[in-house]
Amino acid sequence: MSTRLWHPFSDMAAVDGNEFVVDRAEGAYVYDEAGRAYLDGCASLWYCNVGHGRQEIVDAAMRQMSKLEAYSCFADIANRPALELADRLADLAPVDDAKVFFGSGGADAIDTAVKLARAYWQARGEHQRVHVVSRETGYHGTHGFGTSITGIPPNRDGWGVLPGENTVAPLHDLDGVEKVFAEVGPERIAAFVIEPVTGAGGVHLPTDGYVEGVAELCRRHGVLLVIDAVICGFGRLGTWFGIERFGVRPDMITFAKGVTSGYLPLGGVIVSGEVAAPWWTTPGERTLRHGPTYSGHPTCCAAGLATLDVYERENLIARGGELEMPLFEALAPLTSHPYVHEVRAGFGFLAAVELEQDVLDGVRDAPNVLLRAARKNGVLVRGLGKGVAVSPPLIANDEDLALLAEAIRGGLDALPLEAPVPAAPGA
Ligand SMILES: Cc1ncc(COP(=O)(O)O)c(C=O)c1O
Repeated sequence: MSTRLWHPFSDMAAVDGNEFVVDRAEGAYVYDEAGRAYLDGCASLWYCNVGHGRQEIVDAAMRQMSKLEAYSCFADIANRPALELADRLADLAPVDDAKVFFGSGGADAIDTAVKLARAYWQARGEHQRVHVVSRETGYHGTHGFGTSITGIPPNRDGWGVLPGENTVAPLHDLDGVEKVFAEVGPERIAAFVIEPVTGAGGVHLPTDGYVEGVAELCRRHGVLLVIDAVICGFGRLGTWFGIERFGVRPDMITFAKGVTSGYLPLGGVIVSGEVAAPWWTTPGERTLRHGPTYSGHPTCCAAGLATLDVYERENLIARGGELEMPLFEALAPLTSHPYVHEVRAGFGFLAAVELEQDVLDGVRDAPNVLLRAARKNGVLVRGLGKGVAVSPPLIANDEDLALLAEAIRGGLDALPLEAPVPAAPGA
């Protein structure tokens, strides 16, 4: 059978006719069309934090849809769910005098944040501040600016000239960031965009002082700090936006995914009052000529409000932090597997298992071979450039984590390398 569905980030020549069709989901598990259960080891694509099948989110969306399914928020038009969700997010965010600009996902949030940063400096008369600094392994979606600033080279290559002016700074090296600032000229830098823990680029955990150091460097040079909390937000690091763990108050926060846990598409940018001021102070002075059709979509915002209720009622935001050590302990034994280069876990409820270079050289598309083997063992994980990532729903329990580790170990053992896997010590 052949497909007409073009899958994102996929080798369609290989996928065509070989799709894995998901049929339904409940809690931390999804089911294929034959009814077989799989642990949702990456919360779909790092977003289903509250778990699947939450009837109250469905009901909230349905109620809103029956009343006012959609209406634009352009000019002076608003709707109650968008107003309420903006209030709640602004109150929760570690951003001073926050305003909230809605879109439909993470990529448009990033492009909004980069455009806003540039427009802010234009409005302030610092016309030279158009440069954006990001960092290695950062993933910021696939729109124009997000593609330009990504720290994952294969995602940046092959498009010809990309929009904007930007530099990718080193991952863990604060001196390297200072060097980038000096080389570019800090007075030319509009913003620094950073995920506190890089997700899709490999789950790279923060080193001591890096995020705080970047924040301080930005403050010293007047560069706007944009925290991309698309993955790190909504409990993934045990706080609402991830950045609270570093005691940093950024100028903007981009969010998506967990805000609705994916029940409906929604994203946006939380913007400080200072950055918003050029557009919020003097009537008739300035209009931000930017915004997607579905900004403030009432049904998506109603789903967001119901999702926030679930987080609050079940204390799921803190649970992301409580689960970080159990996840670390479940996966740490894989470190001694001969095919494993490194297990990165222990900060937030997400982790990566990176393969040895020999394995990457010896098995074509090894991360995908591993994830398919884990799937055979009843667990869905996410492929990375050099391994697999996990970020289960925040409702996962110890048994789920044991199953996750076991399925990955089984997948590793099944990798078709010539050398047999040596028996584990004591086995
Ligand atoms: C950190 C980060 N920023 C931005 C995005 C883009 O979000 P979306 O795919 O909703 O456009 C993603 C998606 O995975 C992400 O992980």
